[in-house]
Amino acid sequence: MFKNILVPIDGSDSAWSALRYARVLGEKFNSTITVIHVIPPLYGVQPLNDSALYGTYNIREVEAIGQRLLDTAKDKLNGYPNPIKTILDFGSPSNRILTIAHKDQYDTIVIGSRGLSGVGEFFLGSVSTNIVQHAMIPVVVVK
Ligand SMILES: Nc1ncnc2c1ncn2[C@@H]1O[C@H](COP(=O)(O)OP(=O)(O)O)[C@@H](O)[C@H]1O
Ligand SMILES: [Mg+2]
Repeated sequence: MFKNILVPIDGSDSAWSALRYARVLGEKFNSTITVIHVIPPLYGVQPLNDSALYGTYNIREVEAIGQRLLDTAKDKLNGYPNPIKTILDFGSPSNRILTIAHKDQYDTIVIGSRGLSGVGEFFLGSVSTNIVQHAMIPVVVVK
């Protein structure tokens, strides 16, 4: 039922809540937890070192930030008794998360309700809305 849990994170409080929730579930059900972060294409197309035009970050820095985020997630799962995996991917976050969730046969996705964009008006963010709408497996949305 919860053998393989996929937890998408973006560094937001809501995503860390989702990770905590996944940990509790996973300890009960002996689950493997896979934490995924997807770097959106906005960053992926930026040429190296063209900061005058594209801002401070180049693709290697963005990748390193993504990797650090996943390392932080692993730290937060310190002592977790079952296997932990991490995935750093590039593309549309909701498309990549859904594709991987279906292809690799995850049992459930545990996701934050809100993310970093901080548009307070809606109950769900754009990524979580897409996941809830299009996932063919159960989704746990954590506030
Ligand atoms: N780039 C991403 N990679 C992985 N997970 C993400 C990403 N962006 C958002 N998420 C997940 O989706 C949840 C909701 O975020 P999102 O829908 O982007 O809300 P908002 O529109 O407020 O930014 C986050 O808590 C996180 O679990
Ligand atoms: Mg967002």
